[in-house]
Amino acid sequence: TGYFTYDPGFLSTASCHSQLTYLDGKNGKLMYRGYPIEQLAEKSNFLEVAYLMLYGELPQQQQLEEFRRIIIHHTMLNESLKSFFRGFYHDAHPMAIMVGVVGSLSAFYHDSTDINNPRHREIAAHRMIAKMPSIAAASYKHSVGEPQVYPDNSLSYTGNLLNMMFAVPCEPFVLNPVAEKALDLIFILHIDHEQNASTSTVRLAGSSGANPFACIASGIAALWGPAHGGANEAVLNMLDEIGDIANVPKYLARAKDKNDPFRLMGFGHRVYKNYDPRARIIREMCHEVLEKLGDANDPRFELALKLEEIALNDEYFVKRKLYPNVDFYSGLIYRALGIPTNMFTVMFAIARTVGWVSQWMEMISEDNQRIGRPRQLYVGEKERNYVPIDKRG
Ligand code: CMC
Repeated sequence: TGYFTYDPGFLSTASCHSQLTYLDGKNGKLMYRGYPIEQLAEKSNFLEVAYLMLYGELPQQQQLEEFRRIIIHHTMLNESLKSFFRGFYHDAHPMAIMVGVVGSLSAFYHDSTDINNPRHREIAAHRMIAKMPSIAAASYKHSVGEPQVYPDNSLSYTGNLLNMMFAVPCEPFVLNPVAEKALDLIFILHIDHEQNASTSTVRLAGSSGANPFACIASGIAALWGPAHGGANEAVLNMLDEIGDIANVPKYLARAKDKNDPFRLMGFGHRVYKNYDPRARIIREMCHEVLEKLGDANDPRFELALKLEEIALNDEYFVKRKLYPNVDFYSGLIYRALGIPTNMFTVMFAIARTVGWVSQWMEMISEDNQRIGRPRQLYVGEKERNYVPIDKRG
C-alpha cells in the first residue's frame, strides 16, 4: 500500500483531457464546446448541438442539412431486431430492453466497428444517434402491447420520437409542437455533463477497444441506477407519496428533520452549489408545458408548484441553496407529455447518447490512447498457506 492515491468515487481525479463540456459547479456554468448552455437552449436545436459535439463547430446551413439527411437515413431498425423485443417478457423495464437491444447492434453492423478507421467510427456514431429513438419507442410499445411504429423521416428528431411512441394504427396522431419543443430543450440540456458515471463507463469500456455499440450499452446500464439517471423518476414517486397538498407541511418537516432520512427529491445538487443552470432554463418551459398540456385534474402538478414555491422562499432551503434541480422539472414535463415514469431514464439515454458517442470518439482519436486501468489499495488477508480440506478448523 501507499503507492497509489486513494480516491473513492474519483472525487478529485481527472481521468482525461476533454474539449467537450466545461462545468463550473461553484458558479453555475455549463458550456458545450465553449458555448453557454443558455444560448444553445434558446437558439439552437438538438441535432445542431449534436453536430457541434461531434465535430467541434456549429454547422453551416448545408452541413446541418447533410447531417440531418445522414441521421434520418439510419433511423430504421433491422427487421430481425423485432424478435429481440418480442423475446422480452411483457413487463420488462424499458431500460433492460435498451441495454440488451443496443448491445445487440454490435452483432448487426460490421461496417462501423473497426475503431481504428475514422469513417467506421463516424458511421457508428451516426447510427447510434439515429437509432436510439427508434429503439426507445419500440421498447415502450412492447411494454404497452402496441405495434411498433416505423420512423417518419419528415418529422423532427423529437417529433419522430413522440410519433413512434404514441401513434397507433387505428387513429391519426396529432403532434403537439409544444411537446416537441419541450422535449428538444430537455434533450439539449442532457446531452453531456462531462465525466459522470455513465460517460466514464463508456470511456472505460471503449478504452479496451471494445465494439462501440457495446460501449454505449454499458453507458445505458450505468445510467439506469437511481443515483444517476433515476432522479426524475424519484420526483414523481415522491409526489405520489405526498399525495395531497394538505400533506406538504408534514413532508417539509420531515425533509428538515436530520433524524429522518427523507429528502425532497429534485432539490439540491452535488456539483451546482449555487444553482443548476439547466434548471433555470427548463423551469420556464415546465411552467408553459403544465399550463398548456398538464392535466388540470392531476394533483401532482399543483403539489409540485407548491413545493417549488416553498423551496424558493423557505429559510431552510434558501440558506442551504437547495434549489429545484433539472430533474425536478424534467420529470414534471415528461409526466405532462404523457410519458410513463419508467421511460424517464430512457429519454435521458437518448439525449446522453450524443455525449457518450462524442466522448468515445474523442478518446479513441487520441494519439496516446491507453486502456483505463485504475489500481486499488489491497486490504485483504496477508500471505498465508493453503490448508488441505481435512485440516481446516
Ligand atoms: N431535502 C432536504 N434537505 C436537503 C436536501 C433535500 N433534497 N438536499 C440536501 N439537504 C440538506 C442536507 O441535509 C444538508 O443539511 P445540513 O447542512 O443541515 O446537514 C445540506 O442540505 C447539504 O446537503 P448535502 O447532503 O451535504 O449535499 P450533497 O452535495 O451531499 O447532496 C444531493 C446533493 C443532490 C445528493 C442532495 O441534495 C439530495 O439528496 N437531493 C435529493 C435527490 C436529488 O434530487 N438528486 C438529483 C440530483 S441532480 C442529478 C444529476 O444532475 O444527474
